[in-house]
Parts: sequence; C-alpha cells; structure tokens
Amino acid sequence: PRPILLTRHGESRDNVGGRIGGDTVLSDAGEIYAKKLANFVEKRLESEKAASIWTSTLQRTIITASPIIGFPKIQWRALDEINAGVCDGMTYEEIKKNMPEEYEARKKDKLRYRYPRGESYLDVIQRLEPVIIELERQRAPVVVISHQAVLRALYAYFADRPLKEIPYIEYRSRTLACHRRRVIAPETGTIESPK
Ligand code: F6P
Repeated sequence: PRPILLTRHGESRDNVGGRIGGDTVLSDAGEIYAKKLANFVEKRLESEKAASIWTSTLQRTIITASPIIGFPKIQWRALDEINAGVCDGMTYEEIKKNMPEEYEARKKDKLRYRYPRGESYLDVIQRLEPVIIELERQRAPVVVISHQAVLRALYAYFADRPLKEIPYIEYRSRTLACHRRRVIAPETGTIESPK
C-alpha cells in the first residue's frame, strides 16, 4: 500500500526553551534531524515519482522539509500546531504560575479545553478533516511534516485510536509513523511504534 509517512519537525529553538507555539527556526539537533529525514525519504521514496511532501505554514516544518530534494512541497495552514492563544510563547510552568485556572482546566479536560483566543484538540481535529480527505484520495505516498498535537490527531485517525486518547498519545520527536504499517525512526534506523 502507498505509505503516508508522519513526522514531527526537527527540534525547534522553542522546544529547547520549553515554550509552546511560536514560529522559531530549528536547533542544531533539529537541523541534523532534517538531514537524516531527507536521506531517509529520498531512499525510501526513490522510485515514487509522484510522492509529495506536506508541511504546515510554520518555519520549523518548512525548514525540516528543505533538505528533501526531488518532490513537490505543499503548505497547509490546517497542519499548523494547535493555537495556544494567549498562552502562545509561554512555558507550561509559566501558565501554571500565572494562569492557574487555565492550567487546571486543561489538565481536567485536555481534549475539550480551548485556550483563550486559541484552539482545543477538538478544534484541531475538526480543521484536519479536509487534510484527511485529501490524504485518503492520494494515490502516491505523502510525507506529512507537522506538529505534536496535529500528529496525535492524524495518527489516531489512521491507527483507529479513540478520541479520548488523542491528547495523550506519545508522539516522539525523530520518529516517523507509517500509515497502517510499522513505524520507522530515521534517527536510529530502528522500527518503533508511537504509544
Ligand atoms: O511543545 C511543543 C508543542 O508542539 C507546542 O507548540 C504545543 O502547544 C504542544 O506541543 C502540544 O502538546 P500538548 O497538547 O501536550 O500541550
């Protein structure tokens, strides 16, 4: 079957600082991942002339895709990370300290909790519908380079995981999930499965 490969962007500078959201570039480790991913994708999809690379509109996914040569790249706003609204750019500790009610509300119901002036997981799941429809229609392989919350939702769709689990799926950096098959980590070359 035609693979749909799902991966997070390489580590960003905000990831290093523990800040959510934002639109920073990659850390050195993130740049290394981007190169490994490019090697992996170019080898794996060598004979797949019609394959394409889908990213969000945020720098960290576009930069992660940039070393991949030979395939068209498409940017989707619907693949952007969950919008953390007024909490964008904060660390979880800062939210806990400065906005304890928000922090507790999210902890209680992470699936439904909507950041003030931002989104909930349910909002993200809804906006992904057109992307999922397009993914299902593709005849050629697609590499999706996106973000933690978005990939949790996409992975859950393809792996038939229940809605309530989505916000807690462990979607590790540097792993690549392969739709309806095994999961491969370009970082190590080992085969793993996101929990
Ligand atoms: O920390 C990286 C990140 O992609 C943030 O930008 C985003 O808010 C967060 O992960 C989503 O994960 P969680 O829903 O567990 O906070």
